[in-house]
Amino acid sequence: MSVGKPLPHDSGPLHVTGAAYYIDDVPVPANCLHLAFGTSHVARGIITAMDLSDVRQSPGVVAVLTAADLPHVNDISTAAHDEPLLAEGEVRYHMQPIFLVVATSHRAARVAAARGKVEIEEKTPILTIDEALAAKSYFEGGPITWSRGDVAAAMPEAARVIEGEIEIGGQEHFYLEGQISLATPQDNGDMVLLTSTQHPTEIQHKVAEALALPFHAIRVETRRMGGGFGGKESQGNALAIACAIAAAATGRPCKMRYDRDDDMAITGKRHDFRIAYKAGVTPEGKLVAVEFDQFVRCGWSADLSLPVADRAMLHADNAYFVPHIRITSHRLKTNTASATAFRGFGGPQGIMGIERVMDHIGHTLGRDPLEIRQINFYNKRRVQETPYGQPVRGFILPDMVKALAKTADYAGRKAAIAEWNAGNDVVKKGIALTPVKFGISFTLTHLNQAGALVNVYADGSVTINHGGTEMGQGLFQKVAQVAATGFGIGMDRVRITATDTGKVPNTSATAASSGSDLNGMAVANAVDEIRRRMARLVGPMADVRPKAVEFARGKVIAGDKVWRFAEVARMCHENRVSLSSTGFYATPEISWDRTIGKGHPFYYFAHGAAITEVAVDRLTGENRILRVDILHDVGKSLNPAIDVGQIEGGYVQGAGWLTTEELVWDHKGVLRTHAPSTYKIPACSDRPEVFNVALWDGENHVPSIYRSKAVGEPPLMLGISAFLALSDAIGAFGPTENGAYPDLDAPATPERVFHAAQRMLT
Ligand code: MTE
Ligand code: MOS
Repeated sequence: MSVGKPLPHDSGPLHVTGAAYYIDDVPVPANCLHLAFGTSHVARGIITAMDLSDVRQSPGVVAVLTAADLPHVNDISTAAHDEPLLAEGEVRYHMQPIFLVVATSHRAARVAAARGKVEIEEKTPILTIDEALAAKSYFEGGPITWSRGDVAAAMPEAARVIEGEIEIGGQEHFYLEGQISLATPQDNGDMVLLTSTQHPTEIQHKVAEALALPFHAIRVETRRMGGGFGGKESQGNALAIACAIAAAATGRPCKMRYDRDDDMAITGKRHDFRIAYKAGVTPEGKLVAVEFDQFVRCGWSADLSLPVADRAMLHADNAYFVPHIRITSHRLKTNTASATAFRGFGGPQGIMGIERVMDHIGHTLGRDPLEIRQINFYNKRRVQETPYGQPVRGFILPDMVKALAKTADYAGRKAAIAEWNAGNDVVKKGIALTPVKFGISFTLTHLNQAGALVNVYADGSVTINHGGTEMGQGLFQKVAQVAATGFGIGMDRVRITATDTGKVPNTSATAASSGSDLNGMAVANAVDEIRRRMARLVGPMADVRPKAVEFARGKVIAGDKVWRFAEVARMCHENRVSLSSTGFYATPEISWDRTIGKGHPFYYFAHGAAITEVAVDRLTGENRILRVDILHDVGKSLNPAIDVGQIEGGYVQGAGWLTTEELVWDHKGVLRTHAPSTYKIPACSDRPEVFNVALWDGENHVPSIYRSKAVGEPPLMLGISAFLALSDAIGAFGPTENGAYPDLDAPATPERVFHAAQRMLT
């Protein structure tokens, strides 16, 4: 049985030898043209004049298009219709595309694009959260509040009230393969696209809209991405649409890829947040009432900001029961790149808020923040509801945290750190344990569906196809394991094929960590259908009911008769039994009303906990992660090797977000950190020296594919323990009794760590 085996990623050897095809490796078709955008040099203004004659005369240029030249709709947005492909009249962020150059080479297109003369009457941009608040620059007309209980009445009852604020920076996805598309026109006007996207169906729809064609005229194929991380849910639209329009206009294949700096400046990133909190607690530190104001910098267009901000609100409780709570979300429109999906989709920011509160309470009461967390956990026996009214069932975190604290010797190390800190003035150590409870399902309920196509060939070899996309997370391998297990055959008999809107239609983005849950079920469903047909053929040959026919070890077994799987496939073909089936799955039980913030949006929760130990040098702010211990819940793992990989990668990406990865926009709205030289993602050398990852031994309490759980996003939030460990170490520079709380902002770069440590000393 393949399910549950720690098999390597199916493309592992291709990845490490460089043989895997990404779109830029696919040989370009003859006559292919290349595209580049001419972009805005200001963050906000009115276009008063455009002189593109030098662009048109530049060597190799075939065509130059502006908004006025677009044949139909000028829109790349996911839903709000507020995001033009090419700016019309006004520009709303620095590097916004204004015109499109079509040329004979990538370089010729870029050189020509730089020659455009666009005059823009500059207006004062709204850049920061404060500027947006002052200008009342909101999406959805103003702030949104969801609440439970009566915070105003409960807060005065609390023994202590703790107040604070934290700034949480955004994050660049830094997928290794940048955004890219290739469009090839067909003889009848149809268009075929290769796109690096998590959402082929949306590319299909947006391209169809741009060309005024029905969906069936557009086919989008995605074999793999070199990383997506949410950055390819919607950010590939512009390139795909540009390629399709240029291809339709010229009758030639068109390809577009952003250079790294352009990619970083043009495309959206993780939303930066400011979270203001006020928490009332009992003398022991139990939460009585909590208020959160989440200020979200969304950028110039809606993109996915509204569901991202919703998810931040839905994770404001993380793992804790808050009797009275008010969460207010301010979705602010600014003249910066439009923030978009990023692993966790707002969940990480929401969880940061309450974890900061836990830490702040512990510090104020002079108690270990771990104890504060433990006394506030949802009850594992008596089912309690989240602020949005979903019962918290299968809540295993209290047991997981206890187990992790024990195996990682939290208490012993905490004492050893205190001893070290007492004897060291320059380098202090810190430790933190943070849990994560993450809701699994798209909050937009209708997205929780998936389709599949499974073909068995007459020789018994199998191809599987589904709506999910592969971005390195191992989805294809997991789903192949599901198919191999269903047919009882070896993995070598199963071929995974590229995601293709022509094979499986009307799919959702591969997102919300739900790829294997949804597509695994859809494929299992198709496999079951083909098995039933096979069993109906061979069962009677052995005088057994079709239901009693078994599929195992490459054999089909009916009573005392045994065939090789391939023989049964051949028999089916000869007996005119179809060996091809679609499959479908829709997640049961979920419902959600975002207008009131109530319902059962998540099918289940995935859990995890991490302990991070760090050291901080107060003279330089330099800091290091010394040791990490993680216990994570993936239910009954479909593939423990891939799951551990997701957990390690998620932790490191989360720690990077909160420590070294800093985005800096200047006062003109220009992104100053637009290359690896100025934007620091974790390198191999930054990984923790000791990195212990274990999987919780359990299974999903609701029926999911082989009782597994989603793993893609939840581990990112384990990185919060790195941030709070730094805060703990910084606190050690202050007086031990009633010292000020080290109000560190994220990312905790060496500069911030240095200044925070200095503040503790003065
Ligand atoms: N892992 C790798 N290697 N590359 C990625 O781009 N994206 C993450 C996560 N893990 C990503 C990744 C994000 S944002 C999501 S939503 C999930 O994978 C999507 O895949 P899944 O639903 O199959 O887990
Ligand atoms: Mo992941 S942010 O849901 O693509």
